[in-house]
Amino acid sequence: MVVSPMPSLSIMMVASEAVPFAKTGGLADVSTSLATALGRLGHQVTLVVPRYREVGEVGFLIGQRSVSMGGREFNVGFIEKPIGEGARVVFADCNPLYDREGIYGCGGRDHPDNAIRFAVLAKAALEFAAQLDTPPAIIHAHDWQAGLVPVYARTMYGSGSSLCQARTVFTIHNIAYQGLFDESLLTSLDLPREIYTLNGLEFWGRLSFLKGGIIFSDLVTTVSEGYAREIVGPEFGYGFEGIVAALPRLRGILNGIDVEQWGPHNDRFLPVSFSDTDLSGKAASKRTVLERFGLPSSGEGFARPLVGMVSRLVFQKGLDLVAGAVEKFSDLGASFVVLGTGDRSYEEMWKRAAVRHPSTIAVRIGYDEELAHLIEGGADLFLMPSRYEPCGLNQMYSMRYGTVPVVRATGGLDDAVEQYDEATGHGTGFKFSDYSSDAMLKALRRAIKVYGNKERWHMIQLAGMRQDYSWDVPADSYAKEYETLIRGAVGDLERRGHA
Ligand code: ADP
Ligand code: GLC
Repeated sequence: MVVSPMPSLSIMMVASEAVPFAKTGGLADVSTSLATALGRLGHQVTLVVPRYREVGEVGFLIGQRSVSMGGREFNVGFIEKPIGEGARVVFADCNPLYDREGIYGCGGRDHPDNAIRFAVLAKAALEFAAQLDTPPAIIHAHDWQAGLVPVYARTMYGSGSSLCQARTVFTIHNIAYQGLFDESLLTSLDLPREIYTLNGLEFWGRLSFLKGGIIFSDLVTTVSEGYAREIVGPEFGYGFEGIVAALPRLRGILNGIDVEQWGPHNDRFLPVSFSDTDLSGKAASKRTVLERFGLPSSGEGFARPLVGMVSRLVFQKGLDLVAGAVEKFSDLGASFVVLGTGDRSYEEMWKRAAVRHPSTIAVRIGYDEELAHLIEGGADLFLMPSRYEPCGLNQMYSMRYGTVPVVRATGGLDDAVEQYDEATGHGTGFKFSDYSSDAMLKALRRAIKVYGNKERWHMIQLAGMRQDYSWDVPADSYAKEYETLIRGAVGDLERRGHA
């Protein structure tokens, strides 16, 4: 155990996803990793997530509670699963809210009762926390799905409650997902009408869970310093720029990655392991990826640089830049493998490209953990042309595997990747700023040219592999923020007049 100079804190987190139980994106990686990293620092962490159908049979029932919401009663079971020293997941088990197909929706549509589903999650987590022998000193909620946690904490667990001393933290992982619902739901969500105002939960005539999280928390954080700077402006704020700009403080903390799960030295999905002192095993992963995707895997086919992409295929991820450039990909002298799922139009775009360029572009539509690891291990370059990227994990995963990222310089991509400098040979990847297909193609061309210089390429690979992306530093930053909040005589919230 890493010895922490700080006293051990009781921390409750609430999130809608956690690996390895339920995942649609990076939030799942982050909630589990942050909880376990704080546990390693000596804190006691409980991460509350819904027990979705895909969670299956796991852990033990440690409690049960009837949670009232808008006059209805929801019977919630609490199932405990330890996830590391000092850290556990507690699943909120409530049928029929979570035991169904799809975490957020199915057949391309959101579940119509998502407001109730995540409001019950928030209240269930607080009910659970309130009856603990050591109630949490910190309640940390992630993204809009947990946005009502600080709201209920403030409106329902005031003086007299064991939670009244708790400080609340809210982390924005993606400000474009705002949890917007009709105001007619206020009563059924037990939300007092007085807080449905411009300075409360109202957002352009709708009720926003995200805004609740932001306004009612003692501290708001986001997942990179770059994104913290970006979201106070209109391009990246998605209507929330004024709200976040008015906060007394918005802290950006770059995510870490789980270096045990994601590292070439011990990745169970790679055919041969490798490391920064011996990269020779990487070739076996490249060959496997090419074979798995049905691309030429010997001779010239193998020698060509292999560009990988693993992504949700959505607007955020810059796929329109790809659409504008894909016909020129074959001139680059590289092969492309893509794993992703998302909007039908982007899926079709990739499928059509693969049909037209069968020897250089291959696509797998779907979600596949093993293939994601293989691509990280086997690709030479990793493309992330995101329109915006609060943090992004794949650029960090890539660098761990000596897979050089080509990224748009935004948010966490800009923060995590150091531009390669031709003059000195320093840098960990290739960045472009303009949101255009041409700028992306130029960056790819630059990278592919350097790929031809084996010595230089090796330097870039090693520079990336030797960075520290572990959770040690960010977890320590969160712990320090918690400490400051607990010690602070006047919380940010009081200063903003919400006490
Ligand atoms: P976001 O959360 O915006 O999707 P991140 O980069 O933070 O972006 O995290 C995405 C996570 O989801 C990564 O762990 C990535 O490997 C994983 N991922 C995305 N799409 C797929 C897929 N189709 N198959 C397997 N893993 C995927
Ligand atoms: C969101 C963001 C992504 C970030 C992840 C974890 O899904 O889109 O950039 O890495 O959250 O914080």
